[in-house]
Amino acid sequence: MKSSATALLLPLLATSLLTLTGPAQASEAIVKKARCVACHTVDAKRVGPAYKDVAAKYRGDAGAPTRLFDKVRAGGSGNWGEIPMLPHGADKISDEDLKAAIQWILSLN
Ligand code: HEC
Repeated sequence: MKSSATALLLPLLATSLLTLTGPAQASEAIVKKARCVACHTVDAKRVGPAYKDVAAKYRGDAGAPTRLFDKVRAGGSGNWGEIPMLPHGADKISDEDLKAAIQWILSLN
């Protein structure tokens, strides 16, 4: 009795763990880890623009992922106002994590 209940529950548990660690959550964890959240939230402007606004601005722009990658790396201002974003070197966020974070930001709507 006990073992068949475990056999039933284990796959269920595995499935819910997979759902929890899906791409959206993983990328949100990245922006938290890299402290992007100090200046950005998903749907409200803080120091920097809301990520949903960033997604809306660049929707359908095929060059956006590359330009935004370079922008976060180098920092800068001008697209949203006078306040500059600080540079984020590879010591703060790896290439892989930054790519995933930008892909996640651009997928928001
Ligand atoms: C110190 C505050 C600050 C931090 C930390 C920060 N940002 Fe920003 N971010 C800004 C500001 C301010 C802008 C608007 C810059 C502009 O007007 O061009 C911005 C703009 C952006 C944009 C849009 C750029 C554009 O040219 O349209 C993206 C994408 C972005 N940030 C992603 C990130 C990611 C990813 C991180 C973490 C690795 C991060 N930001 C950390 C302040 C910050």
